[in-house]
Amino acid sequence: MNVPAPIAMLAELTYRCPLSCPYCSNPLEMAARETELSTEDWVEVFEQAAALGVLQLHLSGGEPAARRDLVDLVAAARTAGLYTNLITSGLGLTQKRLAELDAAGLDHVQLSLQGTDADMADRIGGYEGGFKRKMQAAEWIVDAGFPLTLNVVVHRQNLHQLPQAIDMAVAMKARRIEVAMVQFHGWAMLNRGAMMPTRAQADEASRIVVEARARLEGQLVIDYVPADYHGDYPKRCMGGWGMSGLNITPDGKVLPCHAAQTIPTLSFDNVRETPLAEIWYHGDVFNAYRGEDWMQEPCKTCDRRKLDFGGCRCQAMAIVGDPAATDPTCIKSPMHGRLQQLAQELSADETAELVYRKSP
Ligand code: FES
Repeated sequence: MNVPAPIAMLAELTYRCPLSCPYCSNPLEMAARETELSTEDWVEVFEQAAALGVLQLHLSGGEPAARRDLVDLVAAARTAGLYTNLITSGLGLTQKRLAELDAAGLDHVQLSLQGTDADMADRIGGYEGGFKRKMQAAEWIVDAGFPLTLNVVVHRQNLHQLPQAIDMAVAMKARRIEVAMVQFHGWAMLNRGAMMPTRAQADEASRIVVEARARLEGQLVIDYVPADYHGDYPKRCMGGWGMSGLNITPDGKVLPCHAAQTIPTLSFDNVRETPLAEIWYHGDVFNAYRGEDWMQEPCKTCDRRKLDFGGCRCQAMAIVGDPAATDPTCIKSPMHGRLQQLAQELSADETAELVYRKSP
């Protein structure tokens, strides 16, 4: 098949993070600080990515501000010709550091929001005083002139705050808000019982987003990731496996998506040993579920297969135990009924407690 060049790259600079969000998509086994790529390694990766055709670089983690060389990395990415987006909790950013990031050429900031008040945000983030620091950082980000996107992960415990979160985005003069219903990958899998929304909540979230989009047209863009356990069709995960984006882990593994390490049959190439272009075009992992050849029925002959590529491979692995199965969020999957039953059971679990993410 004709493989397109990737458009976006997510660089997970570190798994270290001051917050302990239970919905974190980082893996259960996180690479330790000593194994993180060096500044020089990352600069080399950014240059290779730009040469490969990547346009947008998302600097993420963990908390990317935990890297002391963040300003140098942003400068190197800009020199390589990449558009740079910092995905941050805001903790670890000072006014001085933001000015340095601005001077280094940072293009955009995406700030996470765990709740709309200190009680909720500090409880979900597992960090007392975190909300206050985040709000201060938000002010500095806007004052420094960065375009701001708020990112709010919603789940059973905070979904009632969604209207206020949208109001906050307007008040902060954010250009966009990304409302993502919790996705159960990585650490979040431990918290399905405590965080699974009810079907009524999932429907209500969709209604709130539709209403707010109409009301705020021209003022605020609202991106929305619906609750997939309650959906009828799967999402086009990563725009299709190995079709538009790639992720680099803190220790240099190259993944087609953030959760790919949950598929035990895959063995990942590392930028320390193999050029990025070789991994993207010819690596076994990137070709494992690219295109349609790997598909089984009902995906193989489904007329939606070019729309969603059979959905999310990691979700098929997690629920069905087979990464080549149809994503069970699809109504055509034989496991769809089981998934809906599971979602209902988990959303009614009143005993589950939050399991906080541990930092390496
Ligand atoms: Fe891996 Fe969807 S998260 S394919």
